[in-house]
Amino acid sequence: MRTGYYIMYVCLLAVILSGCRRGDITIADFEGGTYEGWAVEGEAFGAAPSHGAEGVQNEVTGFDGRYLANSFAGGGDDPTGTLTSDEFSIRRRHINFLLGGGTGCRAELLVDGVPVRTARPHTDGEALVMRSWDVTELEGSRARIRIVDDRRGGWGHILADRFEMSDRSKSDILADYRLDITVGKDLVLIPVEDSAPPVRVDILHDGIAVGPGMDIRLAHGDADYYVPVDVSACKGEGVTLRFDYIPKNSSLPEKIVQADAHDFDYSERFRPNYHFSPRRGWMNDPNGMVYHHGEYHLFFQHNPYGSTWGNMTWGHAVSKDLRRWEYLPDAILPDTLGTIFSGSAVVDKDNTAGFGHGAIVAVYTSEGKRQTQCIAYSLDNGRTFTKYEGNPVLSSDIYSDFRDPKVRWHEASSRWIMSLAAGQVIGFYSSPDLKEWTLESEFGREIGSHGGVWECPDLIPMDYNGKTKWVLLVSINPGGPNGGSATQYFIGDFDGRIFTADDLPYPLWLDYGRDNYAGVTWSDAPGGRNIFIGWMNNWDYANEVPTLNFRSSMTVPRELSLIHNGSHLAVVSNPASELLKMRGRSTPLPDTKVSGGKRINLAVNGSGYEMEMEIFPAGADTFSFSLVNTKEERIDFEFNLREGKLLVDRSKSGDCSFSPSFAGRPIEAPLVRKDIYNVRLVVDTCSTELFVNDGQTVTTNTVYPSEPWSEIEFTSAGGSATFKNILIHTLK
Ligand code: FRU
Repeated sequence: MRTGYYIMYVCLLAVILSGCRRGDITIADFEGGTYEGWAVEGEAFGAAPSHGAEGVQNEVTGFDGRYLANSFAGGGDDPTGTLTSDEFSIRRRHINFLLGGGTGCRAELLVDGVPVRTARPHTDGEALVMRSWDVTELEGSRARIRIVDDRRGGWGHILADRFEMSDRSKSDILADYRLDITVGKDLVLIPVEDSAPPVRVDILHDGIAVGPGMDIRLAHGDADYYVPVDVSACKGEGVTLRFDYIPKNSSLPEKIVQADAHDFDYSERFRPNYHFSPRRGWMNDPNGMVYHHGEYHLFFQHNPYGSTWGNMTWGHAVSKDLRRWEYLPDAILPDTLGTIFSGSAVVDKDNTAGFGHGAIVAVYTSEGKRQTQCIAYSLDNGRTFTKYEGNPVLSSDIYSDFRDPKVRWHEASSRWIMSLAAGQVIGFYSSPDLKEWTLESEFGREIGSHGGVWECPDLIPMDYNGKTKWVLLVSINPGGPNGGSATQYFIGDFDGRIFTADDLPYPLWLDYGRDNYAGVTWSDAPGGRNIFIGWMNNWDYANEVPTLNFRSSMTVPRELSLIHNGSHLAVVSNPASELLKMRGRSTPLPDTKVSGGKRINLAVNGSGYEMEMEIFPAGADTFSFSLVNTKEERIDFEFNLREGKLLVDRSKSGDCSFSPSFAGRPIEAPLVRKDIYNVRLVVDTCSTELFVNDGQTVTTNTVYPSEPWSEIEFTSAGGSATFKNILIHTLK
C-alpha cells in the first residue's frame, strides 16, 4: 500500500516538474539556406549561409546541421560586414550559440540597439564552440543578435550558428564573465599562463569601460606569474572586471587579488646585467629613439599585461649616458584607433607642427581596423604625451602592412621626410608640419631581399670621406640570412624625394646573427653620431624564450659607420664608445697557440664582460673559440677559411628546447681570408655579440646556459692558430 502511494507521489512530481521545464527555443539556425530574418550589411557574409569552408579556408568544424553564417564567404578575410537578426523577446535564462573564427570579430546581444552581451571567438580557429550568455536579468526584454566582422587581414572572419534560448547553459565556457569588486588597493593582480589563449578583459566603472581593454593570457589553473592592472583611479569605488569568457571550472575568480605593490623576482635567472630589458612584460622593437635635453629616450614595443606579444603600448626609459637606464611609466597607450605599433620621435625645434617649440613629436602606427600613422606630442621631455586630435595623419587604401614611420628633418629641402614600410617597399613621404604628408616615391621593388614583409625602415645620412651617402635600413621577417628576422641595408643617394641605391651585391646584412631585429638609430644624437640599438630576439621563437616576468632585451648601443671593405662600401657596426666606460676590471689571458685544442680558465666570475683578442690563423684553415661552462654547455665561434664562413653553433648552449628553430643549424656569416682577425665579443647573461674586424662582420646570438661560462676553448685545424692580446673586461 505504502509503496503504491510512493509511486503515485513520484509520478505526480515528475508530471509537475516536466510541466515546469521550459523547452529550448531556436532563434536562428540558418538551416533555410538563406539569411531570411537577418539584415545583411557589407560584403563579408556573402549572399547566403555557407555549407562549411569557403575557397581557401581550412576545414570548418563544429557547426550544426547543413548551414552556418561564415564571414569568409564574401571574399576571405578582408571584407567586413554585419548580420543583425530580427527582434525577439528573451524568454529563457540563457542564449546558447556556436561561435568560431577570429578573436578580433564578435557576436553581440543588442537591447535598444546597445550591446549588452558580447562574445568573441575564444581563440583563432575554424572550429565552432558552444557559447552561452546568461540573460536571466534580461528576461522579457526585446533584443537582437548582431554578428560583427569589422576585421581585415589575418583571422578577419567569424563563424556563427544555432542561436537558441534555453534555461540551461550548454557551454563549458562562461562567456562575458563579470566579477564585481570594491577597489581597496591600487592594483588588481591577474594570474597569467603564457601558453593559454589571450582573453579580452575590461574594467568597467559604472558600466563604462575604463581604458581600451586588455588581452590577457588568463591562467585558469596554476599561474606562471601575475600581471598588475592599475585601478587606483577607482579607489573606494566598485568596479566590474569583465572577461570575454572563462571556462566553467576556472580557478581565476579565487586567484585574483588586490595589492598595493606588485612584487616579483626582477633578478630572475636570465635577466641581463647591462643590456636594456623591460622591467616587466614583453618587449620588441625599439621605438621613438630621440636625444633631448641631455637624455636618450628609448621607447619600445611593450606588453604591460604579459610576457608574450600583445596590447602594444610604448614603454619608456631614459638614459643620460647610454649605460644606465631609468624606467619610466608607459608613454603612449592604445586608444580607439588601435594599439600602438612601432615608430619614431623627433624634436620639433622650429615648431613646424604648432605644438610648441622643442616639442618631442612621436610618429607611430595605430594598429586598428587598418594600420594608420598617428602623432602625439610632449612638452615635458617625453614624460607625458598628448595625442593629436586630427589623427590619423596618414592612411592607405592600398597597403594593409603600412607601418613603422621613421621621420627625420631633411635639411636641404627644409621639410620632414618619413620612411614607411608598405608591403614590401619603403615609401618616402614629405611634410612641412608633421601633419600633412605627401608621397614622394617608393623604393625596393626588385632589389634586396624579399623573403618576408618589410618593416622598421631608417634612412640615415652618413659621412664617407667628407661626402654624404644615404643608408637605408630595412628589417625583414621572415627571410633573414639565417632564417626568421634580420636587417638588410642599402647604400645610395637621397635627393629629398627619391632614394637611388648604388649598384652593390644586395642583399647586404647589418648583422648575420639570429638576434638583432628592427633596430634603428637615435634622432638628434649629439655630434651627429649614428647610434643604433636593435631588439635582441627573433620572431621565430621570441615568444618562447625561457624568461618569465619579462621577455627580450636590446643589443648594446652600437655606432654605425661607412667603410670601404676592399670590394665596396659597407656599413659597419661597433659597440658605441659608451661601452668602454662600462669597463671595470681588465684581465689579460695568456697568448695561446693551438694546433688541436686547448682550454683555459676565463678568469671572470659572472656573466657581464667583453673579450678582445687578435687571432693569427698562420697555417690553420679552420679555427674556433668556444665559451664553455662546468655543465659542458658551450657556444662555438668557428672561423672556417676553407668555406669562407664564420659559424656560430649554439646547439649545446643550454636550454634550446623551447623552440626547434632556435638552434637547429649553425648560424652563418661570410668571412674573408685575412692574416689577422680582431675580435670583440660582448657577453651577458643570455647573449653574445661578436664584432669581427672592426664590425665588418657582426653576429648577435642569444643563449640560455644553466650557469655562466667559466672556460674558453681554442681549436685549430689544418695548421696552427695563435690567439693573442686576449683581454677580458668586466662590464657594469
Ligand atoms: C617588427 C614589428 C613592426 C610592428 C611591431 C609590432 O618587429 O612587426 O613592424 O610595428 O613589430 O609590435
